[in-house]
Amino acid sequence: MTFHEMWAELLPIGRSPESGGYRRYAWTGADTDCRAWFRAQAEARGLAYEVDRNGNQWAWYGDPARGDAVVTGSHLDSVPDGGAYDGPLGVVSAFAALDELRARQAEFTRPLGIVNFGDEEGARFGLACVGSRLTAGQLTREKAYALRDADGITLPQAMEAAGHDPEAIGPDPERLARIGAFVELHVEQGRALDLTGDRIGIASAIWPHGRWRFDFRGEANHAGTTRLADRRDPMLSYAETVLAARREAELAGAVATFGKIAVEPNGVNAIPSLVRGWLDARAADQAALDTVVTAVEKAAGAYADRYGIELAVARESFTPVVDFEDALRDELARVLGRAGSPVPVLGTGAGHDAGILSGSVPTAMLFVRNPTGVSHSPAEFAAEDDCLAGVTALADVLEGLACR
Ligand code: GLV
Ligand code: MN
Ligand code: MN
Repeated sequence: MTFHEMWAELLPIGRSPESGGYRRYAWTGADTDCRAWFRAQAEARGLAYEVDRNGNQWAWYGDPARGDAVVTGSHLDSVPDGGAYDGPLGVVSAFAALDELRARQAEFTRPLGIVNFGDEEGARFGLACVGSRLTAGQLTREKAYALRDADGITLPQAMEAAGHDPEAIGPDPERLARIGAFVELHVEQGRALDLTGDRIGIASAIWPHGRWRFDFRGEANHAGTTRLADRRDPMLSYAETVLAARREAELAGAVATFGKIAVEPNGVNAIPSLVRGWLDARAADQAALDTVVTAVEKAAGAYADRYGIELAVARESFTPVVDFEDALRDELARVLGRAGSPVPVLGTGAGHDAGILSGSVPTAMLFVRNPTGVSHSPAEFAAEDDCLAGVTALADVLEGLACR
């Protein structure tokens, strides 16, 4: 099956007819369909297929028990109304790159694995990279068991409902010990490659980033009869905090976003009793990130006091800076620069399973040009020619690492 055919098969799964965006949330029906697609691709190629204790899917060419395996892949889940490429491009390209290597009659000296990490986006349970974090021991079983979606369904309940036994979730050091290198191909989530006119780039680093929950509690009351002076309206302190986040991010050269909000009781004619907003903040270095988050928390506290609001802030997740391993990155640059033109090396503000794994195994990333830079949106796009160049680049890299 060609890249084009694989892409066409995956395209309708979990797509909203209204928005044209994807709603492939972990352990839902759309996710199950994506996972069935992955399994069918593995089986059609005669690869050994397995699901690990944390629900990540693996397809093996060669025996992983030999160790020093080269692994590639990404994720198939999406953010709410996400694009088609963020995640799936890395998985489809992985299968296509293996096909290309077999067509080249490459002689493998190391096992090759293709992986679909579960719940990378964290759209349902609020924490990103759950599958890789569990595997790498960066999320404890206890904390994973306590994760709940907006309907109160826990992660283990959701896993069980989708046919995965959650009993054994947790660190998987034996599995990681078998991996000698992990290379994730991903659509670029910015326009750096478009601006330099390159189809392919290599990752240098991932910015430190995290998610913080801000609970502003006030007093529900009648929107028509409560005098302005008598209100304790948490929406006011929340709104001022959103503006403060923007200001502080600008000052620090960082980014800060309130992209998700929950309001109680959520009635048009009621002053809210609670506004819960989630801050996503990222910066090139830890000091800048700390500066932004501390300043936003301080501003939120001051605005809460001004409007008679109780404020609670909780950090829900955090990923420190990732500097990808020099040796593997240089090897990718050497292989891809063979034709004579050096390949750009880029940092990114987006999180990835590769970032989580980088603490345990040598890890690298390839980026494919995104002509608009748009991502986490139905408008996300990459040209098929560029995607095919990505497949060839990935095949070249895998050949260099895993073949004679
Ligand atoms: C994942 O895509 C993230 O950076 O939030
Ligand atoms: Mn994403
Ligand atoms: Mn992604």
